[in-house]
Amino acid sequence: MCGIVGYLGKKRAQPILLEGLKRLEYRGYDSSGIAVLEKKKILLYKKEGKISILEALLVNKKLEGTIGLGHTRWATHGKPSDENAHPHSDCSGDLVVVHNGIIENYLILKEELIKKGHRFKSETDTEVLAHLIEENFKGDLEEATREALKSVEGAYAIGVISTKDPEKLVAARYGSPLIVGVGEKEFFIASDVPAILNHTREIIFLDEGQLATLTPEGVKVTTLDNKKVEKAVTIIEWDVSLAQKNGYKHFMLKEIYEQPRAMMDTLRGRIAKDEREVLLPEISLSSKEIEKIKRLFIIACGTSYHAALIGKFLIENKVGLPVEVDIASEFRYRNPIIDSQTLVMVITQSGETADTLAALRLAKEKKAKTLAITNVVGSTASREADGVLYTHAGPEIAVASTKAFIAQLTLLYLFTIYLGGIRGTIPEEEAQEMLATLRNLPQQVKKILEDIKGILSCARKYFHKRDFLYMGRGINYPIALEGALKLKEISYIHAEGYPAGEMKHGPIALIDEDMPIVAIATQGSVYEKVLSNIEEIKAREGIVIALATEGDKKIKEKADEVIYLPQIREDFTPFLAVIPLQLLAYHIAARRGCDIDQPRNLAKSVTVE
Ligand code: AGP
Repeated sequence: MCGIVGYLGKKRAQPILLEGLKRLEYRGYDSSGIAVLEKKKILLYKKEGKISILEALLVNKKLEGTIGLGHTRWATHGKPSDENAHPHSDCSGDLVVVHNGIIENYLILKEELIKKGHRFKSETDTEVLAHLIEENFKGDLEEATREALKSVEGAYAIGVISTKDPEKLVAARYGSPLIVGVGEKEFFIASDVPAILNHTREIIFLDEGQLATLTPEGVKVTTLDNKKVEKAVTIIEWDVSLAQKNGYKHFMLKEIYEQPRAMMDTLRGRIAKDEREVLLPEISLSSKEIEKIKRLFIIACGTSYHAALIGKFLIENKVGLPVEVDIASEFRYRNPIIDSQTLVMVITQSGETADTLAALRLAKEKKAKTLAITNVVGSTASREADGVLYTHAGPEIAVASTKAFIAQLTLLYLFTIYLGGIRGTIPEEEAQEMLATLRNLPQQVKKILEDIKGILSCARKYFHKRDFLYMGRGINYPIALEGALKLKEISYIHAEGYPAGEMKHGPIALIDEDMPIVAIATQGSVYEKVLSNIEEIKAREGIVIALATEGDKKIKEKADEVIYLPQIREDFTPFLAVIPLQLLAYHIAARRGCDIDQPRNLAKSVTVE
């Protein structure tokens, strides 16, 4: 997720672009840049690091140009660097592009363009767009952009300017958000409203496959096949801070609702056209090496550790490979039995967690192959592991991890199918069914997000409670742990996750009429067992909040509260069960007036021991 801003009008573009980028920094902040069209030349400045570094670079420069583009990056292809920062230019430097999204076929396009003599400077997918538009340019920037986009596969929101068509700014979107701002004889483009709210509240929201051409005369919107589109202008009432959260009260809530997109972006480009095979080219482990793996360790902390536990369950079931999961701060101080036929995977959203990095280094010392699942391109974990798999969840601002977790699960399911394909343990039909289920998940998650009255009712009834227990079995035991962690870290209520079968071994002593227990009782191989655990709790006056499968007729008589989830294969229930638990934690914490995005004593990335 990156931030784009563009300006065409009578004022100097430079301050407008820099202000807009600062308002979009929450969308990505590993590098940034601006390009301004001035006296038939494009002046381009870009730097690795936060926007303040770009501002320092420009502090003594007063660019006069009144047309320009700006970009703040969240790297997906190519590490954070000056070269990989946007805007990107064509061979001549007369045309520049800014882009948010992922061009899935950029390698093929790049090869074709190199054969035609184009010279590339960066490792990014975006630079391909600049050369593609250059290749199609015959005097009209709008037409050249339209033609170029016809050969692009993937997601994009772009802005383009050129000295060869100097009174024009062309923008287009497919799969990534892009808006047009309408001012007094001045026009804007941006990834999101906050970037331009200080200049205009009149916004045109572009839809998929639409292209906007900004000139001093106004804005023209067309489809990719050049059909004119009449667009309504929306008047935005929000203030800037609310706008940065897209109207949500907290980044955590915004990120909970971004989970369908985080899953879609993590899946993007990783399922072969026949929908039967997983593509993980960046894994940098050969099939031979994968066949030789005898043991897999998955090491992580906190929420990432809960994802690791689900990975264990899945991989052992589907691939027959022994998996050992460990908390990084434990793993690094014991003497794990590791050799060159061991694969050690670390899961870390930030890629900077000290204990997890120490575990990764210990694994490398012991000659294991190492792999990192991380959300941050260019993070320490991504650079030190032998291979890396990126979740494309976009920047996760809230301390409590939500969309990164579900993206980690998505990647672990893809990795399982990938391993099973190479080691011959998952038949093609099963792989196809698993991939079809993965593809359908964002819709099912969306359905849960749209109907939360049961969750709100539970938050209202139980937000003042002092202790919660969460219980689950099998693949949902880690979700019980995750639900408890979400509640404790943002509401400061004591909450513990337990395997449901463990209740009789101690926790049941805690149960009384003041103790809510969240039970994950979805349909599956252990459903009856969980039902009997619920009965044991009810016999001791406990309050049971059950997660159940739509159509379950029995659960209503047993539990005090029931939150229903759509039908899904048992081994995919974690994706659905975690959503109500994230929302329950959020709405309880909101009722308690907690500082949800920055809970006390916590940091987004624990970079110290
Ligand atoms: C999750 O909500 C917490 N903020 C915390 O447990 C987090 O998952 C943990 O610190 C690991 O972070 P990482 O994934 O960046 O390594």
